Formats: sequence, structure tokens, C-alpha cells
Amino acid sequence: MSEIHIDDLDAADDALVEQTARVLFEAFQAVTDWLTDIEAARAEVRESLEPGRLSLVARDEAGAVLGWIGGQHEYARVWELHPLAVSPPQQRRGVGQALVAALEARVAALGGLTLRLGTDDEAVPGTGTGRTSLFGVDLYEGEPLKHLLGIRNLRGHPYEFYLACGFAIVGVVPDANGRGEPDILMARRVGAGIHEDPSGRV
Ligand SMILES: CC(C)(COP(=O)(O)OP(=O)(O)OC[C@H]1O[C@@H](n2cnc3c(N)ncnc32)[C@H](O)[C@@H]1OP(=O)(O)O)[C@@H](O)C(=O)NCCC(=O)NCCS
Repeated sequence: MSEIHIDDLDAADDALVEQTARVLFEAFQAVTDWLTDIEAARAEVRESLEPGRLSLVARDEAGAVLGWIGGQHEYARVWELHPLAVSPPQQRRGVGQALVAALEARVAALGGLTLRLGTDDEAVPGTGTGRTSLFGVDLYEGEPLKHLLGIRNLRGHPYEFYLACGFAIVGVVPDANGRGEPDILMARRVGAGIHEDPSGRV
């Protein structure tokens, strides 16, 4: 993989914003119908450029967009990671991990302690099925957390990518996208914060 350059997405660079929207659209098109068209992707990218938000773009040496990540302050010391997209031909080359690490560093510098996200398990377009063992299950039967403890990745769901990035599964929202289509909640610690213990324990 050639070198990855990660910078703030420049709102004044129309061509870059457009390329970023295309990467976002293409990355999600194959796995969800969250973004109905390229205009929805453009709106998502534009939203990430509002004041107080983080919007980081990864490019190769030639300036081509490889991926993009957004983040925003949620409450107290908590930030949300949303969204994250890597151009399909560039996936599994470390771009996603590099973007998450860059966002973590920015959130930590801003005083954040927890970076959290929700990663949906909804029906993959055209298949009628999801990607984890939680899909299609009534999570209220026998308690949601019991099902969550036994989660298995059946078809390349990104929760395992986030595990590889140091996130933990911290919960689940049943039926977030329809009956049997949950949102998997994940979080990780970033930075040390003002209550850092000099012994190294937080
Ligand atoms: C999920 C996504 C951002 C990952 O980006 P990426 O650049 O391909 O990921 P990386 O190369 O940094 O992966 C790092 C590690 O995570 C794990 N990983 C990555 N994608 C994975 C997947 N789909 N399933 C399981 N593990 C995965 C692997 O361990 C990988 O290391 P390896 O390739 O050496 O085995 C990318 O696949 C994507 O844009 N998908 C479509 C949009 C999406 O699902 N976004 C997240 C929504 S919450």
C-alpha cells in the first residue's frame, strides 16, 4: 500500500468534497441502502463540515480519496464516530484503521475519553439477510445481552473491524432498523483525560 495522507476535509475544495461523497456512496451501496443516491452522500459529507464536527479524509500520494471518517461531540466526554467509509478497491489495506487512529487522536486532543459508534446489522440489499448471528433474532427473548455475548460474524460485518481497532461491544439496540435488524453499540477509550492516574491506571 502506498503512503496514506490524512487531513481535515477542506470545505472549500469542491472537487475533493465530491470525490469524498462518491467514495462514501460506493462503500455503502454494496452493504446497505442507507444512502439512496449520490445526493444523500453529498448531504452527509456537507453535514460533517458544520462547525464543531470532525471530518478527516485519507488520500494517496496522487491525491485520490481512499476513505473518509466523521466524528462529533455527543455529551460529556463522549464522541461519536460516524460515518466511516473506505473506497471498495482500497479496502483491507489498513486505510480504515488509519482513519480511526487519526480520529481517536483528534478526539483525545479535544478532551474526549470515550469514542463510541453504532454499527447496524440490517438486511443487505437484494439478499433479505443480515451479516451477524443477531439478525432476524428476537433479542428480547432471553435478554438482549445474552444474545450479544454469543455474537458471530456470518458475512463480513464491520463489528470485527472495530474489534481489530480496539473497540469493545458495549450494547445493542434491538429492532433499530426494523424487526430483527439491530444496531450494535461499540466504544473504546481514547486519551487519558484530566483524571489520569500517574501510575498509568486511568
Ligand atoms: C469497514 C471498513 C471501514 C473497513 O476499512 P478497511 O480499510 O477495509 O479496514 P482495514 O484494512 O483497516 O482493516 C483492519 C483489520 O480489520 C479487520 N476487518 C476489516 N474489515 C473487516 C470485515 N469486513 N470483517 C471482519 N474483519 C474486518 C481485519 O482484521 C483487518 O485486518 P487484516 O485485513 O489484516 O485482516 C470498510 O470495509 C468499509 O468502508 N466498508 C463499507 C462501509 C462500512 O461498513 N462502514 C462502517 C459502518 S459502521
